[in-house]
Amino acid sequence: MSKNICFIDGLEGILKYREIDINQLVDLSYDAVSYLLIQGELPGDKELAEYSARLQGEREINREVMDVIRMYKLNIDAMEALRTVVSFISQFDPDLNDSSTEANMRKSIRLIAKIPTIIAAYYRVASGKEPVPPDRSLSHGANFLYMIRGSKPSKLEAEVIEKDFILSAEHELNASTFSSRVTASTLADLYSAVVSGLCTLKGPLHGGARAEVMTMIQEIACPENAEKYILEKMGKKEKIMGFGHRVYKTYDPRGTLFKQLSKQLAEAKGDMHWYETAEVIENTVVRELVEKKGKPIYPNVDFYSAVIYMYMDIPPQLATSIFAIGRVSGWIAHSFDQYEKKKIIRPRAFMLDEC
Ligand code: SDX
Repeated sequence: MSKNICFIDGLEGILKYREIDINQLVDLSYDAVSYLLIQGELPGDKELAEYSARLQGEREINREVMDVIRMYKLNIDAMEALRTVVSFISQFDPDLNDSSTEANMRKSIRLIAKIPTIIAAYYRVASGKEPVPPDRSLSHGANFLYMIRGSKPSKLEAEVIEKDFILSAEHELNASTFSSRVTASTLADLYSAVVSGLCTLKGPLHGGARAEVMTMIQEIACPENAEKYILEKMGKKEKIMGFGHRVYKTYDPRGTLFKQLSKQLAEAKGDMHWYETAEVIENTVVRELVEKKGKPIYPNVDFYSAVIYMYMDIPPQLATSIFAIGRVSGWIAHSFDQYEKKKIIRPRAFMLDEC
């Protein structure tokens, strides 16, 4: 059942994937969590080793794909390249129009494995550098950082990016997952369902908020400027990016974990200023909106994840596409669930009045 993929208690701040609390899942590997979401249960050691090997074996992208990546303009958001390239690579998949369970599983492995390589290749080309081929010996997270930097990340950085992918992997019927499900409900192929998810994730009210948070914190520059900046924005009735949620009426449990991770990174790097700037933003929003006005506006998944990217020297241009690296497993799990229903999603227009 669809509701078994993810459970959210928006009042208590509880999030589970397949009935396992996110606080337990965050210490696993992304491969294990991806397997859990798609297959419905955690893998044993043998299944995990096999699944990881299959993912590692599908990381490469071919020369034609590289040619398309090289045709992109340099200063665009990586999501613009990613959504086209994911669509483009579908033609090379021998299973594209085979909708059997086995073929769908092979496609999902290719999608999960290749998306980080596409993003990293675009980023390297856009930065005037040669793409770095994937390293099969590295975890999903460490390999991604390696491909964008050309050098292996520290142990802590590798752990943090892995947790970022896990915390971003799934969130019930969010806007992009809904898009993927609608596409899958027509029995369109898995690449189409994932491209729909990518297009919807891009907007600043959804996954695009992460890049906006980074830009905001860069603009604020230091903790001393933060309160005035936020009060001015609120005075103009502007939304503060990275805050608020349709479902959570308390702290987003992913936000709590991302806050801890960003503090850990800040301490390890001996540079607290991005973390402290973010904390002043949070304290100001909570004081003004929660304490004074009683609105449940707390940091969401996009706020402290943005701080993590800042500490890892990841530019805002990559932020939304990195969200997609994690979320693709959720889109696939929901698409498979939708395929089983064999029923088109077709709401009536009056339902939009409630959105
Ligand atoms: C994600 O759905 C998911 O699960 C999504 C996600 C996932 O994992 O898939 O969790 C990922 O998309 C996180 C959200 C990222 N977006 C942002 O950070 C953008 C900023 N936040 C918002 O615009 C907003 O909070 C939403 C879009 C997240 C939720 O919007 P809702 O539920 O439609 O709420 P709303 O815009 O109608 O606001 C309700 C009230 C308003 O005040 P009133 O008019 O009632 O007086 O809360 C206020 C809003 O002004 N409010 C904010 C605010 N968010 C809501 N005020 C200031 N800053 C904000 N960020």
